[in-house]
Formats: sequence, structure tokens, C-alpha cells
Amino acid sequence: MTVLGARPQFVKAAAISRVIRNLYDGQVEEVVIHTGQHYDNNMSRVFFDELEMPAARHNLAISGGYHGAMTGRMLEAVESQLIKELPDWVLVYGDTNSTLAGALAASKLHIPVAHVESGLRSFDKRMPEEINRILVDHISTLLFCPTETAVANLKAEGVTDGVYNVGDVMFDVALFVKEKARSQSNILKLYDLTTKQFGLATCHRAENTDDPARLTEILKGLATVAQHIKLILPLHPRTREFIRHYGLAQHLTGIVVTEPLPYLDMVALEQAAKLILTDSGGVQKEAFFYGVPCLTMRDQTEWVETTQAGTNILVGASMKAILDGFEKLQSGRWEYVNKGQPYGNGNASENIMQRIVQYART
Ligand code: UD1
Repeated sequence: MTVLGARPQFVKAAAISRVIRNLYDGQVEEVVIHTGQHYDNNMSRVFFDELEMPAARHNLAISGGYHGAMTGRMLEAVESQLIKELPDWVLVYGDTNSTLAGALAASKLHIPVAHVESGLRSFDKRMPEEINRILVDHISTLLFCPTETAVANLKAEGVTDGVYNVGDVMFDVALFVKEKARSQSNILKLYDLTTKQFGLATCHRAENTDDPARLTEILKGLATVAQHIKLILPLHPRTREFIRHYGLAQHLTGIVVTEPLPYLDMVALEQAAKLILTDSGGVQKEAFFYGVPCLTMRDQTEWVETTQAGTNILVGASMKAILDGFEKLQSGRWEYVNKGQPYGNGNASENIMQRIVQYART
């Protein structure tokens, strides 16, 4: 049983579902439970359609509210589904409240949990995602790490059993969608964008959106960049709400603001962008996969390989650091060090399924 609920999980789960369909047909049955955490069509359904992901058997329709309440409601509802379906395994992805609810419900029923994207750490426990990651990693049976750094993080916490560096499922996805996005998306035309002559920005992390000082700095930084280069900003509902709440809409002047975008459009933009500015983990990595310079608007990153390779620079929530990074790019001083491919060979999904099936048979 796959338990998911938030946008990045649909992308990752699609890679594994494809392997189950193609290589384990008749041997493994996958049942998908959608918690409902993300519910807008363009935050959820469009991802299932574009990535050929099997429809969820149940949607629990749980979203919004404080984190504790959201997670608690999910825990109860996922537990009911587990009792009904009695799966042999539960698969969870990443670090959202849906991940925690799925893993916790399963472990209480002694159903083994496989955690995909295990071992990532920001070392900042104020982030809800960090708490979710730590807890899920400590109750999972199989821990599928995307990198050696993740394996080392787990080791430092005393977690070594069932830990495997399988590579990053997001890299599998990037290889799958790269051409598809180029040929099927018409987003560049729609917004009159020319390849390598525009910037792409996203911002949704709670530590940025919920803090008016940080959000103002970020928006001011983006607005200044937009004076020099066309800048497109697909706006997450969380960010839209906080911009309204804090009265910051004037900073969006000059920026091309859109609704959250379908995945193929997003990937088409990422590949064609001259620069990406983001606080998303997935987008940072996609920038790396597509060789696009990225300014990450956070104080730390779980994806340290991207900063080591030089595609990614951490700029925090500082207008000055954003502008320094932009100036570095414009003046040709951006240095990229090719450090090989730290995220595996594009077969993480196969590795994961192989391990689960092997484990289940022993
Ligand atoms: C969640 C994850 C975050 C992940 C992100 C990807 C947690 C703690 N956070 O953050 O790690 O990077 O998803 O996007 O699980 N909303 C809508 N429509 C939707 C979805 C959400 O309007 O389709 C609204 C919600 O009602 C809420 C706000 O957006 O007011 C934030 O949603 P929430 O699910 O709490 O967290 P995210 O910020 O999306």
C-alpha cells in the first residue's frame, strides 16, 4: 500500500508504480491511498494523469488545519484503511505529514514500512519536514537513501539495519519526463518566454511563507531580479494566502505570477530557464539534473551534493544574497564543478522494488 498526499509524492510514487506495472505485474499489487493533503486539481489530479500514476483507491479528504490535527486525522483514517486492506508492506515517500501518518499507522499495526527518500537531514528541527523525516526513519524497516550523505546521516543516528543507497527516484523521473516535457508542453509559448532568457521562481516553505520578514525579503529580491530578466513564479496556495494576509502583493509587480503548474509544464520551464530561484527540495535537484544555475532561498539544504557541484548556491531569505547570486550569474562568474552523478544511475525505482520483493521472500 502506497500512502501519499502531497504534490512531490505523486511524482516520486509514479516512478515506482511504473516499475511495479512493468516488471512485477501479477506478483505485486499496489493499492494507493491519497490522504487528500493536496486537493486542488493542479496540485494533485493533473500529476496522476501526466505521470500515468494509478488512481488512488481511496481519498481520505484530509487537508488544512494545524499540523498536529492534520496528522492525527490522517493517522486514524489511514489505520482504518490498513485494517481493511491488510497490506504486506506500506510505502511512504519523503517528509510530509502524510508520510508520517502512513508510517506511524503501519508501524503500530506491525506492518513493515519502506521509506523512500530516507536519511535526508537539514539539522533544523523547527522545520515540520525534519521532524517527519527523523520519526519515519526510526520506525521504517527498509530505508531507501538517495545518496551516500543520507546513509551517513542515518549511521550518525545509529540506524544501519535495512539501509540502502539506491539512488534518487527523482533522477529516474527526470530521465522519464525530460523529452516528454519538451515535446508536449506549450508553456513557453503561452507566456512568451525565450529559452535561457528568463528566470523561474518558486516559494512555499513554511519557514519562508509564514514569517513576514523572510517573505518580504524574498519577494523584494524576486522583484529586483524581475527588473533585469523576465521572471515567472508559479504560486503555491500557501504562499498566495500569506502574501494576501501580510499585504505584500505590491512586491509581485513585474513578476509573471501563475497558478501552480502541471508537472510537464514545470519541467519544461526548468529546462529552459536561465536561472532558478526556489526553496523546494525537488526543484533544487531538478535544476541540478538539467544543469541550470539555482539560488536556494533557504539557510541550509538536504541536497548538499548540488551545492558541492556548484549548480546551487544558498542565499537564505536575503534580498542582498539573492541579488549577489544573480549578479554572479549575469557577469559569467558562476562556476560549475562536474562532480559526476551523485544521485545514482536512473534506476532507483528498480533497486527499491527489487529490495522489497527480496526482503518479503526471505
Ligand atoms: C506540504 C509539505 C511540504 C512539501 C509541500 C509540497 C508538510 C508538513 N509539508 O507543504 O513538505 O514541500 O507540501 O507542496 O507536509 N492548499 C490548497 N490546495 C491544495 C493544497 C494545499 O489550497 O491543493 C492550501 C492548504 O489548505 C493550506 C496550504 O495550502 O492552507 C498549505 O498546505 P499544506 O498541505 O499544509 O502544506 P504545504 O505548504 O503544501
